Amino acid sequence: MAPSAVEPDVPVRGKGPVREPLQLSGALDSYESFDVTPVIGREFPTAKLVEWLNAPNSDELLRDLAITISQRGVVFFRAQDDLTNELQKKLILRLGELTGRPATSGLHIHPILNSERELGGNDLEISTISSVQNKQFYSKKVPDTLSVKNQRSAQWHSDIAFEPVPADYTSLRLVQLPTTGGDTLWASGYEIYDRISEPYQKFLETLTATFEQPGFQKVADNLGFNLYDKPRGAPENVGAELKAIHPVVRTNPVTGWKSIFPVGGHVKHINGLTEEESSHLLSWFLDLVYKNHDLQVRFKWKNANDIAIWDNRSVFHTATFDYLDGSYGVPSSDMAGSVPIARSLSDIYTPDALPTQAKRWNNLLAKFEEVYGHPAEFISRSPGRVNIIGEHIDYSLYSVLPMAITADALLAVSTALTPTTPGTFKVQIANVQDSKFPSREFDIPYETVDIDATVHEWTNYFKSGLRGALEHLRRKRGADFKPSSMKILMDGTVPAGGGLSSSAAFVSASALAIMVANGEHTVNKTELTELAIVSERAVGVNSGGMDQSASVFSERGSALFVSFAPSLKARPVYFPKTNPELTFLVAQSFVTSDKFVTGPIHYNLRVVECSLAAAYLNAVLNPPGTQLPPDAAPLGISLHGFHETYFALREHGAGATSSKPVPDQLDELITLTKQTLTQVEGYTREEIASVLNISVDELNARFTSRFPVRAERFKLRQRALHVFSEALRVLKFMALLETGPSGDDTASYNSQLGALLNETQTSCRDVYECSCEEIDALCAIARKAGSYGSRLTGAGWGGCSVHLVPADKVAEVRDAWDREYYSKLNLTEDQKEAAVVL
Ligand code: ATP
Ligand code: GLA
Ligand code: MG
Repeated sequence: MAPSAVEPDVPVRGKGPVREPLQLSGALDSYESFDVTPVIGREFPTAKLVEWLNAPNSDELLRDLAITISQRGVVFFRAQDDLTNELQKKLILRLGELTGRPATSGLHIHPILNSERELGGNDLEISTISSVQNKQFYSKKVPDTLSVKNQRSAQWHSDIAFEPVPADYTSLRLVQLPTTGGDTLWASGYEIYDRISEPYQKFLETLTATFEQPGFQKVADNLGFNLYDKPRGAPENVGAELKAIHPVVRTNPVTGWKSIFPVGGHVKHINGLTEEESSHLLSWFLDLVYKNHDLQVRFKWKNANDIAIWDNRSVFHTATFDYLDGSYGVPSSDMAGSVPIARSLSDIYTPDALPTQAKRWNNLLAKFEEVYGHPAEFISRSPGRVNIIGEHIDYSLYSVLPMAITADALLAVSTALTPTTPGTFKVQIANVQDSKFPSREFDIPYETVDIDATVHEWTNYFKSGLRGALEHLRRKRGADFKPSSMKILMDGTVPAGGGLSSSAAFVSASALAIMVANGEHTVNKTELTELAIVSERAVGVNSGGMDQSASVFSERGSALFVSFAPSLKARPVYFPKTNPELTFLVAQSFVTSDKFVTGPIHYNLRVVECSLAAAYLNAVLNPPGTQLPPDAAPLGISLHGFHETYFALREHGAGATSSKPVPDQLDELITLTKQTLTQVEGYTREEIASVLNISVDELNARFTSRFPVRAERFKLRQRALHVFSEALRVLKFMALLETGPSGDDTASYNSQLGALLNETQTSCRDVYECSCEEIDALCAIARKAGSYGSRLTGAGWGGCSVHLVPADKVAEVRDAWDREYYSKLNLTEDQKEAAVVL
């Protein structure tokens, strides 16, 4: 946005010459457009702003655009994909320059929504509006009214009205859209003025109002940063006091039309009136907006890079926050939307990681040219994850709490490759670690992607992403869709088989790369995650959905609460401030656990055991003949499905929801499991088949044929007990985060969080049997040195561990590991470096 040309009657600036209203030249008449309502808004559905910026008669076009914006209040353009940030800034500057903005005014710098914030983008003059950042700034731990419900969600305002030189034109371009909601509304200030009687108009014209925004200072104080107090787009807009006086009736210098100005946010008081008179007038102005919906226009954002440009002197606007819900400290919005396209590495990595990452990206691009003889077209990226709590319950469809890490999979891609065999497309794929992951070339038939799940081959992970993405594209584009050929160079920094989900990072990055290579410019996160979850199973591991969700949905600076039933949903979770502060340390055991290799006795076997436990409990505890609902679990039924069915049938009949709180339901299921599944030594196939009333062959066909498993007895009791108790621990952990600590010293709060992690480790070690001695040792050492809670993370049987450590004990814990664990292994310098991650 840009501070305005100051109109002649702004009292703080003195009187200037009154200017004639500007007239349209007609330069835009040949472009398709329509008035969105009779009163306000015009849309140019097909015009391209970049063409107008570059046209020989650009000044004429842009001057007419500015006048149109001032007359119609707000103007809309669709899908301006080539409008970069720089061009958008140029456009807004030109609009003001061509319509008389003073030479001293440039683009405004927002006092808090600027690039000094973590999610504030990288340009001081562009305010990045992020739903995640909004929550960090404005979310409340405790609702400040007696009711948590909210009946007034509109926040009408004119941008930066608290500045002495407020805004003229503002543009808003959305780069990431929610799946639904998030509309923006504008209301006409001209029309409000016009609907007021003449005597009243005359009275209002004698008044001025004080505008103020103390809320920004509060946000800055709470989060410990300073307001931007250098000049903000005009020499007059300076300092940390955000306060100004403006007339109640302003005349727009472009149109010469009058408008009521003190409407909604940033307005403090009508000068010279009593408090009561002032607040009456101010709430009446707002009422005029609320009650006259024919002076509003509502814009539905449909494409990435749709853009709205409006004149703040004469219109008000409000966002619609209907794509968020909940008002507590732990926000509950889901994070659906498209995968972001980063324009700079600082959009992806934290400042301390930037130098190393920049080198790595450059190296990848250089190596790509070296290998394939031409530059890559784009890089697709997906990170690994650490799981904070909720282990081995995602494939039983219970919610989990992972967090993305910096380590990631990068795929540099070009499509400059011609297939040689008719009916096929070609894929050439290489890896920067070429001795470990040798290059391959495939001719792949248009219709099917064959994956041999019996061999352990790194490119199977790419192919599984490929298969999922192509099925998705074929559904979307029709059966005769012909995929594009691709050259790929991969660089992955997530340790393979280290419990930090290198596999999902690889599969998700592959699926994304394939979508983009085939012309999908916006990729929906939920669709991408769902297809990556299902397709990764093609490599021979019957995994759940946690890793792909964490890889695709995670946002920097927050963990992720992922739920799988009734459908996939993810929302960011922030940790409260504690004293001492908490740090998560991730420590490698250097025991590689390859889920593919050990699948028959570890991972895949656990999936079978959990599914059999669900079927067994259903057969014993639900009315005879009850079928579990088919769901998204790897074998089609889940303990969560049993859970829901059990309570629904017992309390209300099929399909109903139980009134009992979920934690109490889980407690009851733990008791029931102990009473029902009494055989500690496990159950043979024959024993289970007889309870399910099927033959052993049928049991094998239904549960153990997808991937081979090796077991005489299935430990249904232990597996179900772990799953129900772990699901309960996740809920308890979330409840602690939502409530937050009380008082200054939060050591006991920290210990409660830590205790839950320790209980998870005990359950994983003793009940689920997915730990190993080395992980147990790392946990014991860390606890002794001051960790509140320590446990394995990821699939287990080796890999990584996660530790909740007070900031002042980090060094002690690291030293203890060096002394008592790492010094006893023969580690290379690189391994030592990567052993522990903060
Ligand atoms: P977990 O699933 O326990 O969190 P993980 O995902 O690292 O850990 P696996 O699911 O067993 O472990 O996946 C590891 C496999 O992924 C490797 O064996 C390899 O085939 C593939 N892979 C991982 N990283 C790379 C890489 N940088 N280059 C090529 N292939 C890789
Ligand atoms: C692996 C799987 C996940 C999940 C974890 C254990 O990482 O890929 O789906 O089951 O193990 O929580
Ligand atoms: Mg994996």
